[in-house]
Amino acid sequence: MDLSNLGTTCVIGLFWGDEGKGKIVDVLTEYADVVVRYNGGANAGHTVVIEGERFALHLLPSGSLHGGKTGVIGPGVALDPAVLLEEIDHLRGRGIDLTDRLKISKRCHVVMPYHKAEDRLNEQVLTGKDKIGTTARGIGPCYADKMQRSSAVRFCDLFNPNEFRERLGRIVRRKQAVFAALYENPEPLDAEAIADQYLRYADQLRNYLCDTTSYLQHCLQHGRKLLFEGAHGTLLDIDHGTYPYVTSSSSSALGVPSGAGVPPSAVQSYVGVVKAYTTRVGQGPFPTELFDENGERIRERGHEYGTTTGRPRRCGWFDAVAGRYSVQMGGIGHVAVMHLDTLSGFDRLSICTAYTVDGKRLDEFPAEVDVLERVKPIYESLPGWSEDLTSVRTFEDLPQAARDYVLRIEELIGATVSIVSVGPERSQTIFRNG
Ligand code: GDP
Ligand code: IMO
Ligand code: MG
Repeated sequence: MDLSNLGTTCVIGLFWGDEGKGKIVDVLTEYADVVVRYNGGANAGHTVVIEGERFALHLLPSGSLHGGKTGVIGPGVALDPAVLLEEIDHLRGRGIDLTDRLKISKRCHVVMPYHKAEDRLNEQVLTGKDKIGTTARGIGPCYADKMQRSSAVRFCDLFNPNEFRERLGRIVRRKQAVFAALYENPEPLDAEAIADQYLRYADQLRNYLCDTTSYLQHCLQHGRKLLFEGAHGTLLDIDHGTYPYVTSSSSSALGVPSGAGVPPSAVQSYVGVVKAYTTRVGQGPFPTELFDENGERIRERGHEYGTTTGRPRRCGWFDAVAGRYSVQMGGIGHVAVMHLDTLSGFDRLSICTAYTVDGKRLDEFPAEVDVLERVKPIYESLPGWSEDLTSVRTFEDLPQAARDYVLRIEELIGATVSIVSVGPERSQTIFRNG
C-alpha cells in the first residue's frame, strides 16, 4: 500500500466503534497536512500509543500528536468546551502544544451542562429495550437541540454575550420545566452561572475558533492533504446503523462532507477499520456476540474495556455480513484489520458469513433491529495459530493460518486489506502491498 498516494483520505470504523481508528489516523497523519474531526463529540475515545506512551483523545483529532500538523474540529462536531480545554491542557502538560495548529469551527454546536444531565437522567428512567446505554456525554440531547433549533447554542453565539444570556435564560427555563415533569429530583440549573462559565470557555478558546469551512476550502485549493478522522462506526450511524441503538451523528462514510464542510468530491479514498473480531459497548443487537470463554478470552487478551467509560466491551467473532454492508455503503477501498495479535492461541476461529432467520438464509444486513436480534450466524471455521504476532512486521512473515484468516475477511467483505495491526504501538503495523 502506497500511503503517500492515498490523496485526501477518511478513516472510518466499519462496526460499532473502537475498531482502532485512533491508531490508524495517527499512522496515516505522517502523510497528511491537516487532520479533521467532523462528527460526534466526547463520546468518542481514540487511543494512540507512541513508544509506550498512551494517549486517549476524545475531541482532539488523533493526528494532533504529530508536531507540525494542523488539527481541525469541523461544524458537525458536538463540542464540550470543558472536555476540550482539559484535553488541550493535558497535552500541553505532556509537551504537546496546540497553539497555532488547532482550528475549531464557530459553527459547532455546544454541549451544555443540561445536555449531560438530560443524557444521564434519561438513561436512568428508561427501562428494558428502551435503554440505549449511552456514554452520558450529552451528545444525543445536544444534537436533538440542534435539530430542534430554538434551544440550540453554537460557538458563534457565545461572542454576543447579552443576546446569549437572554437566550440561555429562556432555554434553561424550558429545560427545567421538562426535567421537573420527567425526572425525580433533577439538579437545579442556574442560567447565570452557566452563562458566566460558557463565556469564560469562549474566551479561553477564542484563538482557536474560526471559519474552518473556508480554511478547508483554502487547503483544498492549495493542494494540502487532508485526513478525516471518523468517530464511532458505520453501524452506529444515525441513519444507517442499528437504529435506535446508534449514536446521534452521521458516523458512516456518508457523513464526511456534511460534518467537515467539504464537497463530497474532496474525499479521494476511504480506509475502513475493523478488528479481527467484533466488539460493541452499550445496548443493541450483536449477532456474533460470544457469552462463553472465547468471548472472555478476547476481552482479556484484547483489553476490551471502553476508552471513554471503562465499560467492558461485548466481544464476538468477526461478522462479515455487517462488514460487507459497511464496505458497500461507504465505498470503502482499503481496510485495516486490527488486533490480529489478540487472536493468537485459539485452535479454531469462526467468521460469520451469512445469517439465518425464521429458517431462511439472509446474506444482507437487515434494517429491522428486531430481525437482527433474532438472526443466527452461519459460521465458517478456520484454523487458528499459536505464534505471538506482536513482533511481525511484514505480511509474509505472518503464520500461514493468520494470512489465510485475513485473506478470507478480505474476500468476504469485498475490500482490500492494506493494513494489518499486531499491537497498539505505532510501530506494530504491517502494510501490505498489492
Ligand atoms: P477507536 O475508538 O477506534 O480509536 O479505538 P479505541 O482506542 O477506543 O480502542 C482500540 C484499543 O485497541 C486501544 O486500546 C488501542 O490502543 C488498542 N489497539 C489498537 N490496535 C491494536 C492492535 O492491533 N492490537 C492490540 N492488542 N491493541 C490494539
Ligand atoms: P469511538 O469513536 C464505541 C455507543 C455507546 C452507546 C451508543 C450511543 O471511540 O469508536 P452516545 O453516547 O453516542 O449517545 O451512545 O453509541 N458509542 C460508542 N461505542 N465507540 C464509540 O466511539 C462510541 N460512541 C458511541 O456505547 O451504545
Ligand atoms: Mg474508542
